[in-house]
Amino acid sequence: MRARIAVLAGDGIGPEVMEEGTRCLSAVARLFGHTIDLDPLPFGGAAIDSHGEPLPPGTLRGCREADAVLLGAIGGPKWSAPDASVRPEAGLLRLRRELGTFANLRPVRVHPQLADASTLKAEVISGVDLVFVRELTGGIYFGAKHRDAVHATDECRYSAAEIERIVRVAAALARRRRGRLTSIDKANVLETSRLWREVTQRVIEREFPGITLEHMLVDAAAMHLINRPRDFDVLVTENMFGDILTDEASMLAGSLGLLPSASLGEGRRGIYEPIHGSAPDIAGRGVADPYGMILSVALLLRHSLELQSEAVALEQAVAQALGAGMRTPDLTRGGAAACSTRAAGEAVLSRLRRPA
Ligand code: NAD
Ligand code: IPM
Ligand code: MN
Repeated sequence: MRARIAVLAGDGIGPEVMEEGTRCLSAVARLFGHTIDLDPLPFGGAAIDSHGEPLPPGTLRGCREADAVLLGAIGGPKWSAPDASVRPEAGLLRLRRELGTFANLRPVRVHPQLADASTLKAEVISGVDLVFVRELTGGIYFGAKHRDAVHATDECRYSAAEIERIVRVAAALARRRRGRLTSIDKANVLETSRLWREVTQRVIEREFPGITLEHMLVDAAAMHLINRPRDFDVLVTENMFGDILTDEASMLAGSLGLLPSASLGEGRRGIYEPIHGSAPDIAGRGVADPYGMILSVALLLRHSLELQSEAVALEQAVAQALGAGMRTPDLTRGGAAACSTRAAGEAVLSRLRRPA
Protein backbone atom coordinates (compact mmCIF):
# COMPACT_ATOMS: atom_id res chain seq x y z
CA MET A 1 0.00 0.00 0.00
CA ARG A 2 0.96 3.65 -0.28
CA ALA A 3 0.43 6.07 2.61
CA ARG A 4 1.40 9.56 3.63
CA ILE A 5 2.22 10.31 7.25
CA ALA A 6 2.50 13.81 8.73
CA VAL A 7 5.46 13.81 11.10
CA LEU A 8 5.33 16.38 13.91
CA ALA A 9 8.48 15.89 15.99
CA GLY A 10 7.98 18.94 18.23
CA ASP A 11 10.25 19.92 21.12
CA GLY A 12 12.63 18.55 23.75
CA ILE A 13 12.87 14.76 23.46
CA GLY A 14 10.14 14.81 20.77
CA PRO A 15 12.65 14.82 17.87
CA GLU A 16 14.87 12.26 19.69
CA VAL A 17 12.15 9.65 20.06
CA MET A 18 10.60 10.54 16.69
CA GLU A 19 13.87 9.63 14.96
CA GLU A 20 13.52 6.06 16.28
CA GLY A 21 9.79 5.99 15.54
CA THR A 22 10.22 6.95 11.88
CA ARG A 23 13.18 4.58 11.43
CA CYS A 24 10.94 1.75 12.65
CA LEU A 25 8.05 2.88 10.44
CA SER A 26 10.28 2.98 7.35
CA ALA A 27 11.77 -0.42 8.23
CA VAL A 28 8.31 -1.98 8.55
CA ALA A 29 7.35 -0.46 5.17
CA ARG A 30 10.48 -1.92 3.50
CA LEU A 31 10.00 -5.32 5.11
CA PHE A 32 6.35 -5.64 4.03
CA GLY A 33 6.65 -3.90 0.64
CA HIS A 34 4.69 -0.70 1.36
CA THR A 35 5.50 2.85 0.31
CA ILE A 36 5.12 5.19 3.26
CA ASP A 37 5.93 8.84 2.57
CA LEU A 38 6.92 10.93 5.58
CA ASP A 39 6.04 14.61 5.65
CA PRO A 40 7.91 16.44 8.46
CA LEU A 41 6.07 19.58 9.57
CA PRO A 42 6.84 22.36 12.10
CA PHE A 43 4.79 22.12 15.31
CA GLY A 44 4.81 23.25 18.94
CA GLY A 45 7.49 25.48 20.40
CA ALA A 46 9.71 24.91 17.37
CA ALA A 47 6.93 26.30 15.16
CA ILE A 48 6.43 29.29 17.48
CA ASP A 49 10.11 30.07 16.93
CA SER A 50 10.03 29.59 13.15
CA HIS A 51 6.46 30.65 12.23
CA GLY A 52 5.16 32.62 15.24
CA GLU A 53 2.46 30.03 16.05
CA PRO A 54 2.41 26.42 17.32
CA LEU A 55 0.15 25.05 14.57
CA PRO A 56 0.96 26.95 11.35
CA PRO A 57 -1.65 26.70 8.55
CA GLY A 58 0.72 24.59 6.40
CA THR A 59 1.09 22.06 9.23
CA LEU A 60 -2.66 21.77 9.74
CA ARG A 61 -3.13 21.35 5.98
CA GLY A 62 -0.43 18.67 5.87
CA CYS A 63 -2.16 16.80 8.71
CA ARG A 64 -5.54 16.96 6.98
CA GLU A 65 -4.03 15.62 3.75
CA ALA A 66 -2.18 12.78 5.51
CA ASP A 67 -3.47 9.28 6.25
CA ALA A 68 -2.25 9.70 9.85
CA VAL A 69 -0.32 12.05 12.08
CA LEU A 70 2.69 10.89 14.08
CA LEU A 71 3.56 13.24 16.92
CA GLY A 72 6.56 13.39 19.28
CA ALA A 73 6.02 15.86 22.12
CA ILE A 74 5.75 19.61 22.53
CA GLY A 75 6.43 22.26 25.15
CA GLY A 76 9.23 23.38 27.39
CA PRO A 77 10.40 26.15 29.73
CA LYS A 78 11.25 28.47 26.83
CA TRP A 79 7.54 28.85 25.97
CA SER A 80 6.03 28.45 29.47
CA ALA A 81 6.30 31.92 31.05
CA PRO A 82 3.11 32.70 33.04
CA ASP A 83 2.42 35.66 30.74
CA ALA A 84 3.21 33.84 27.47
CA SER A 85 0.72 34.95 24.80
CA VAL A 86 1.14 31.82 22.68
CA ARG A 87 1.88 28.30 23.95
CA PRO A 88 2.90 25.02 22.28
CA GLU A 89 0.14 23.20 24.19
CA ALA A 90 -2.51 25.37 22.49
CA GLY A 91 -1.33 24.00 19.14
CA LEU A 92 -1.77 20.42 20.31
CA LEU A 93 -5.27 21.07 21.64
CA ARG A 94 -6.25 22.82 18.42
CA LEU A 95 -4.88 19.98 16.28
CA ARG A 96 -6.93 17.42 18.23
CA ARG A 97 -10.04 19.56 17.87
CA GLU A 98 -9.53 20.37 14.16
CA LEU A 99 -9.01 16.70 13.28
CA GLY A 100 -11.97 15.67 15.44
CA THR A 101 -9.99 13.04 17.33
CA PHE A 102 -12.29 12.79 20.34
CA ALA A 103 -11.28 9.30 21.49
CA ASN A 104 -7.81 8.88 22.96
CA LEU A 105 -6.88 5.22 23.49
CA ARG A 106 -4.07 4.68 25.99
CA PRO A 107 -3.31 0.97 26.43
CA VAL A 108 -1.34 -0.15 29.49
CA ARG A 109 0.24 -3.57 29.30
CA VAL A 110 2.86 -4.90 31.68
CA HIS A 111 5.69 -6.54 29.77
CA PRO A 112 6.74 -9.57 31.85
CA GLN A 113 10.38 -8.63 31.18
CA LEU A 114 9.87 -5.34 33.03
CA ALA A 115 8.25 -6.60 36.24
CA ASP A 116 11.26 -5.27 38.20
CA ALA A 117 11.19 -1.82 36.55
CA SER A 118 7.99 -0.66 38.26
CA THR A 119 7.84 0.96 41.69
CA LEU A 120 5.02 -1.49 42.40
CA LYS A 121 5.38 -5.11 43.45
CA ALA A 122 5.56 -7.68 40.64
CA GLU A 123 2.70 -9.71 42.19
CA VAL A 124 0.39 -6.65 41.92
CA ILE A 125 1.22 -5.67 38.34
CA SER A 126 1.92 -8.94 36.57
CA GLY A 127 -0.67 -9.63 33.88
CA VAL A 128 -2.10 -6.10 33.83
CA ASP A 129 -3.76 -5.40 30.49
CA LEU A 130 -6.08 -2.40 30.43
CA VAL A 131 -7.01 0.44 28.08
CA PHE A 132 -7.99 3.95 28.98
CA VAL A 133 -10.42 5.67 26.63
CA ARG A 134 -9.96 9.34 27.39
CA GLU A 135 -12.38 11.93 25.99
CA LEU A 136 -10.04 14.32 24.16
CA THR A 137 -11.86 17.26 22.62
CA GLY A 138 -14.18 18.48 25.36
CA GLY A 139 -14.41 19.29 29.05
CA ILE A 140 -12.41 21.82 31.01
CA TYR A 141 -9.63 21.90 28.39
CA PHE A 142 -11.92 23.56 25.87
CA GLY A 143 -14.33 25.58 28.03
CA ALA A 144 -14.39 29.37 28.30
CA LYS A 145 -11.45 30.85 30.22
CA HIS A 146 -11.35 34.10 32.06
CA ARG A 147 -8.67 35.86 34.04
CA ASP A 148 -8.41 39.21 35.79
CA ALA A 149 -6.03 40.40 38.48
CA VAL A 150 -7.66 38.39 41.28
CA HIS A 151 -10.00 35.84 39.65
CA ALA A 152 -9.61 33.01 37.19
CA THR A 153 -12.18 30.70 35.61
CA ASP A 154 -11.97 27.52 33.51
CA GLU A 155 -15.38 26.31 32.48
CA CYS A 156 -16.06 22.55 32.21
CA ARG A 157 -18.83 21.66 29.74
CA TYR A 158 -19.99 18.35 28.31
CA SER A 159 -22.95 17.62 26.08
CA ALA A 160 -24.86 14.33 26.11
CA ALA A 161 -23.77 13.78 22.49
CA GLU A 162 -20.07 14.10 23.39
CA ILE A 163 -20.50 11.59 26.20
CA GLU A 164 -22.51 9.15 24.08
CA ARG A 165 -19.92 8.93 21.32
CA ILE A 166 -16.96 8.33 23.63
CA VAL A 167 -18.88 5.72 25.65
CA ARG A 168 -19.75 3.90 22.41
CA VAL A 169 -16.07 3.75 21.44
CA ALA A 170 -15.13 2.42 24.89
CA ALA A 171 -17.97 -0.13 25.01
CA ALA A 172 -17.22 -1.42 21.51
CA LEU A 173 -13.61 -1.90 22.60
CA ALA A 174 -14.66 -3.66 25.80
CA ARG A 175 -16.84 -6.02 23.74
CA ARG A 176 -13.75 -7.11 21.77
CA ARG A 177 -11.85 -7.62 25.04
CA ARG A 178 -13.05 -8.94 28.41
CA GLY A 179 -16.41 -7.16 28.41
CA ARG A 180 -15.79 -4.94 31.45
CA LEU A 181 -16.17 -1.18 31.41
CA THR A 182 -15.32 1.18 34.26
CA SER A 183 -16.61 4.72 33.90
CA ILE A 184 -14.74 7.22 36.03
CA ASP A 185 -16.28 10.51 37.18
CA LYS A 186 -16.79 12.83 40.15
CA ALA A 187 -20.56 12.57 40.27
CA ASN A 188 -20.65 13.30 44.00
CA VAL A 189 -19.55 16.89 43.26
CA LEU A 190 -19.69 17.84 39.57
CA GLU A 191 -22.77 18.44 37.41
CA THR A 192 -20.83 17.38 34.27
CA SER A 193 -20.06 14.08 36.01
CA ARG A 194 -23.73 13.52 36.92
CA LEU A 195 -24.62 13.93 33.24
CA TRP A 196 -21.68 11.66 32.32
CA ARG A 197 -22.90 8.90 34.64
CA GLU A 198 -26.52 9.11 33.52
CA VAL A 199 -25.66 9.06 29.80
CA THR A 200 -23.12 6.25 30.22
CA GLN A 201 -25.64 4.10 32.09
CA ARG A 202 -28.26 4.68 29.38
CA VAL A 203 -25.95 3.95 26.43
CA ILE A 204 -24.74 0.70 27.94
CA GLU A 205 -28.23 -0.49 28.97
CA ARG A 206 -29.73 0.25 25.56
CA GLU A 207 -26.89 -0.60 23.18
CA PHE A 208 -24.41 -2.91 24.93
CA PRO A 209 -26.32 -5.53 26.92
CA GLY A 210 -23.30 -7.84 27.22
CA ILE A 211 -21.05 -5.27 28.89
CA THR A 212 -20.55 -5.17 32.66
CA LEU A 213 -20.52 -1.51 33.62
CA GLU A 214 -19.23 -0.09 36.88
CA HIS A 215 -19.13 3.59 37.88
CA MET A 216 -16.22 4.74 40.01
CA LEU A 217 -15.36 8.09 41.57
CA VAL A 218 -12.07 9.44 40.30
CA ASP A 219 -10.34 9.70 43.68
CA ALA A 220 -11.10 6.07 44.48
CA ALA A 221 -10.11 5.07 40.93
CA ALA A 222 -6.66 6.61 41.47
CA MET A 223 -6.28 4.28 44.45
CA HIS A 224 -7.82 1.10 42.98
CA LEU A 225 -5.61 1.51 39.91
CA ILE A 226 -2.47 0.78 41.89
CA ASN A 227 -4.10 -1.51 44.46
CA ARG A 228 -5.76 -4.00 42.09
CA PRO A 229 -4.85 -2.99 38.52
CA ARG A 230 -5.56 -6.46 37.07
CA ASP A 231 -9.29 -6.00 37.74
CA PHE A 232 -9.58 -3.33 35.04
CA ASP A 233 -10.31 -3.93 31.38
CA VAL A 234 -11.52 -0.74 29.63
CA LEU A 235 -11.78 2.56 31.52
CA VAL A 236 -13.63 5.53 30.08
CA THR A 237 -13.35 9.02 31.46
CA GLU A 238 -13.39 12.72 30.71
CA ASN A 239 -10.48 14.71 29.36
CA MET A 240 -8.67 15.91 32.48
CA PHE A 241 -9.24 12.82 34.64
CA GLY A 242 -7.89 10.73 31.76
CA ASP A 243 -4.81 12.90 31.44
CA ILE A 244 -3.93 12.51 35.11
CA LEU A 245 -4.84 8.85 35.61
CA THR A 246 -2.86 7.69 32.56
CA ASP A 247 0.38 9.24 33.79
CA GLU A 248 -0.29 7.37 37.05
CA ALA A 249 -1.09 4.16 35.16
CA SER A 250 2.18 4.39 33.23
CA MET A 251 3.97 3.35 36.40
CA LEU A 252 2.20 -0.01 36.26
CA ALA A 253 4.13 -0.63 33.03
CA GLY A 254 7.31 0.79 34.55
CA SER A 255 7.78 4.21 32.96
CA LEU A 256 5.93 7.13 31.42
CA GLY A 257 8.23 6.61 28.42
CA LEU A 258 6.59 3.27 27.56
CA LEU A 259 2.99 4.29 26.93
CA PRO A 260 1.67 4.88 23.39
CA SER A 261 -1.61 6.47 22.39
CA ALA A 262 -4.01 6.66 19.46
CA SER A 263 -6.39 9.59 19.07
CA LEU A 264 -9.28 8.64 16.81
CA GLY A 265 -12.34 10.34 15.36
CA GLU A 266 -15.01 9.34 12.86
CA GLY A 267 -12.76 8.34 9.96
CA ARG A 268 -9.56 6.32 9.78
CA ARG A 269 -7.18 9.21 10.22
CA GLY A 270 -5.72 9.47 13.72
CA ILE A 271 -3.03 11.19 15.75
CA TYR A 272 -0.46 8.83 17.29
CA GLU A 273 1.81 9.97 20.09
CA PRO A 274 3.47 8.67 23.22
CA ILE A 275 1.61 9.98 26.28
CA HIS A 276 4.70 11.66 27.75
CA GLY A 277 5.80 15.25 27.23
CA SER A 278 8.98 16.90 26.00
CA ALA A 279 10.93 15.95 29.17
CA PRO A 280 13.09 19.09 29.35
CA ASP A 281 15.03 17.54 32.26
CA ILE A 282 16.62 14.90 29.99
CA ALA A 283 16.34 16.47 26.52
CA GLY A 284 19.45 16.63 24.34
CA ARG A 285 21.23 13.76 26.06
CA GLY A 286 20.11 10.87 23.83
CA VAL A 287 18.73 8.87 26.78
CA ALA A 288 14.95 9.25 26.33
CA ASP A 289 12.90 6.07 26.20
CA PRO A 290 11.69 5.61 22.59
CA TYR A 291 9.43 2.60 23.22
CA GLY A 292 6.22 4.63 23.77
CA MET A 293 6.87 6.37 20.45
CA ILE A 294 7.62 3.12 18.62
CA LEU A 295 4.51 1.47 20.08
CA SER A 296 2.54 4.51 18.85
CA VAL A 297 3.81 3.69 15.35
CA ALA A 298 2.37 0.20 15.83
CA LEU A 299 -1.00 1.72 16.77
CA LEU A 300 -0.83 3.89 13.62
CA LEU A 301 -0.22 0.81 11.48
CA ARG A 302 -3.16 -0.98 13.10
CA HIS A 303 -5.80 1.74 13.32
CA SER A 304 -5.15 4.15 10.44
CA LEU A 305 -3.52 1.87 7.85
CA GLU A 306 -5.26 -1.38 8.88
CA LEU A 307 -1.93 -3.22 8.75
CA GLN A 308 -2.44 -5.67 11.61
CA SER A 309 0.46 -8.07 10.87
CA GLU A 310 2.82 -5.13 10.53
CA ALA A 311 1.66 -3.73 13.89
CA VAL A 312 2.13 -7.11 15.57
CA ALA A 313 5.61 -7.52 14.04
CA LEU A 314 6.68 -4.17 15.49
CA GLU A 315 5.15 -4.89 18.91
CA GLN A 316 6.91 -8.25 19.00
CA ALA A 317 10.23 -6.62 18.13
CA VAL A 318 9.75 -4.17 21.03
CA ALA A 319 8.94 -7.04 23.42
CA GLN A 320 12.07 -8.88 22.27
CA ALA A 321 14.28 -5.80 22.65
CA LEU A 322 12.98 -5.40 26.21
CA GLY A 323 13.46 -9.11 26.81
CA ALA A 324 17.09 -8.77 25.69
CA GLY A 325 17.60 -6.15 28.41
CA MET A 326 17.70 -3.09 26.18
CA ARG A 327 16.61 -0.51 28.75
CA THR A 328 16.93 3.26 28.69
CA PRO A 329 17.73 4.80 32.13
CA ASP A 330 14.03 5.21 33.08
CA LEU A 331 13.77 1.38 33.07
CA THR A 332 16.84 0.44 35.14
CA ARG A 333 15.27 0.54 38.59
CA GLY A 334 16.01 -3.14 39.16
CA GLY A 335 19.74 -2.44 38.73
CA ALA A 336 19.88 -3.32 35.02
CA ALA A 337 22.38 -1.58 32.72
CA ALA A 338 21.16 1.42 30.73
CA CYS A 339 21.30 1.96 26.97
CA SER A 340 20.78 5.04 24.79
CA THR A 341 17.69 6.04 22.80
CA ARG A 342 19.48 5.06 19.60
CA ALA A 343 20.58 1.66 20.96
CA ALA A 344 16.99 0.87 22.03
CA GLY A 345 15.74 1.85 18.57
CA GLU A 346 18.44 -0.27 16.92
CA ALA A 347 17.50 -3.20 19.14
CA VAL A 348 13.93 -3.03 17.84
CA LEU A 349 15.01 -2.63 14.21
CA SER A 350 17.35 -5.61 14.33
CA ARG A 351 14.55 -7.83 15.71
CA LEU A 352 11.91 -6.85 13.18
CA ARG A 353 10.74 -9.93 11.23
CA ARG A 354 7.85 -10.82 8.95
CA PRO A 355 5.65 -13.36 10.71
CA ALA A 356 6.32 -16.91 9.49
P1 NAD B 1 6.99 15.04 30.85
O1 NAD B 1 6.08 13.95 30.45
O2 NAD B 1 7.71 15.75 29.75
O3 NAD B 1 8.07 14.48 31.87
C1 NAD B 1 7.73 13.97 33.16
C2 NAD B 1 8.89 13.12 33.69
O4 NAD B 1 8.94 11.91 32.95
C3 NAD B 1 10.26 13.78 33.53
O5 NAD B 1 11.07 13.45 34.62
C4 NAD B 1 10.79 13.16 32.25
O6 NAD B 1 12.19 13.10 32.18
C5 NAD B 1 10.19 11.76 32.30
N1 NAD B 1 9.96 11.26 30.94
C6 NAD B 1 8.97 11.63 30.09
N2 NAD B 1 9.09 10.98 28.93
C7 NAD B 1 10.18 10.20 29.02
C8 NAD B 1 10.83 9.30 28.12
N3 NAD B 1 10.36 9.07 26.89
N4 NAD B 1 11.94 8.66 28.55
C9 NAD B 1 12.41 8.86 29.79
N5 NAD B 1 11.84 9.69 30.69
C10 NAD B 1 10.74 10.36 30.29
O7 NAD B 1 6.12 16.08 31.69
P2 NAD B 1 6.52 17.53 32.25
O8 NAD B 1 7.97 17.60 32.56
O9 NAD B 1 5.54 17.81 33.29
O10 NAD B 1 6.21 18.51 31.01
C11 NAD B 1 7.21 19.00 30.13
C12 NAD B 1 6.54 19.69 28.95
O11 NAD B 1 5.91 18.72 28.13
C13 NAD B 1 5.46 20.69 29.34
O12 NAD B 1 5.61 21.81 28.50
C14 NAD B 1 4.16 19.96 29.02
O13 NAD B 1 3.10 20.83 28.68
C15 NAD B 1 4.58 19.14 27.84
N6 NAD B 1 3.77 17.94 27.60
C16 NAD B 1 3.52 17.64 26.30
C17 NAD B 1 2.84 16.49 25.97
C18 NAD B 1 2.60 16.18 24.53
O14 NAD B 1 3.27 16.69 23.67
N7 NAD B 1 1.64 15.33 24.21
C19 NAD B 1 2.45 15.61 26.98
C20 NAD B 1 2.73 15.94 28.31
C21 NAD B 1 3.41 17.10 28.62
C1 IPM C 1 -1.05 14.82 27.07
C2 IPM C 1 -0.54 16.16 27.50
C3 IPM C 1 -1.44 17.26 26.97
C4 IPM C 1 -2.82 17.07 27.60
C5 IPM C 1 -0.96 18.70 27.20
C6 IPM C 1 0.44 18.91 26.72
C7 IPM C 1 -1.87 19.70 26.57
O1 IPM C 1 -0.42 16.23 28.90
O2 IPM C 1 -1.15 14.57 25.86
O3 IPM C 1 -1.32 13.96 27.93
O4 IPM C 1 -3.05 17.49 28.74
O5 IPM C 1 -3.67 16.49 26.92
MN1 MN D 1 -0.66 14.27 29.87
